[in-house]
Amino acid sequence: MNNLKNKFDLKGKVAIVTGASKGIGESMAEIFAEAGAKVIVSSRKQDAVDEVAHSFKAKGYEATGIACHVGEMSQLKNLVEKTIEIYGGVDILVNNAATNPVFGPVLNTDESAFDKIMQVNVKAPFELAKLCYPSMKSRGGGSIINISSIGGLSPEPLLGIYSVSKSSVIMLTKVLAKEWGIDNIRANVVCPGLIQTKFSEALWKNEEMLQKSVKHLPISRIGQPDDLAGVALFLASEAAAYVTGSVYTVDGGYTV
Ligand SMILES: NC(=O)c1ccc[n+]([C@@H]2O[C@H](COP(=O)([O-])OP(=O)(O)OC[C@H]3O[C@@H](n4cnc5c(N)ncnc54)[C@H](OP(=O)(O)O)[C@@H]3O)[C@@H](O)[C@H]2O)c1
Repeated sequence: MNNLKNKFDLKGKVAIVTGASKGIGESMAEIFAEAGAKVIVSSRKQDAVDEVAHSFKAKGYEATGIACHVGEMSQLKNLVEKTIEIYGGVDILVNNAATNPVFGPVLNTDESAFDKIMQVNVKAPFELAKLCYPSMKSRGGGSIINISSIGGLSPEPLLGIYSVSKSSVIMLTKVLAKEWGIDNIRANVVCPGLIQTKFSEALWKNEEMLQKSVKHLPISRIGQPDDLAGVALFLASEAAAYVTGSVYTVDGGYTV
């Protein structure tokens, strides 16, 4: 029997969202909290995550801020341990934090930039998923939502190694879906197009560049962080109980 509200209800669930102090992560964290989840808002800066958690609490939601640089293994461990200490477990993980220190051709990308991109964008989601696995398994299942990019589907100009990392995130998601489906742990990946955040500032701040990008979009506007929230809620919830290993583009039709 279908029940629309219950299908999307996250009451009793605990969610960790990395990179949630602003942009796409904040929007996803907020919709989870609104749906009844207890949400861990995480990014590198404690004051920034505290501010977001307080703003959620002011709306009557449950949230706690925990600082974590996802490139640091000890901080990833601390994030999961503290979450379990505070809320008793983890049901939903959004690997959203990412970095891109270079904008330019591959020949200008040095070893340290390559390593940093892979550490933050690929290794961190892998390690964090593994850290959450025992708790998800013991609670009867879970949902992992990895944030990739349309650059993970085909290379974005001047974002070469970032595109490589985001493509790896898609394959990591499929691997987890295949290996952990038996434990009722689902893994899905979202590929945003151009979304108006600090991260993508270089691509939209200049009006001429923005118009150039928008010209290629069937839905002729730049995306907003809230455009991602509905897909995230679906994937986190019981409504997506049979959905795993799937790739969702949210790009205004750019890749069509
Ligand atoms: N915006 C786009 O057009 C677009 C397109 C495709 C894909 N994406 C993907 O969407 C995701 C979110 O991006 P966004 O556009 O929402 O960016 P954003 O608004 O700039 O937010 C990035 C978030 O990540 C945090 N962060 C950065 N480095 C971190 C690290 N090493 N450890 C932990 N947290 C870190 C930032 O907070 P602190 O500074 O406090 O750490 C912030 O909360 C990324 O995976 C990005 O690749 C974005």
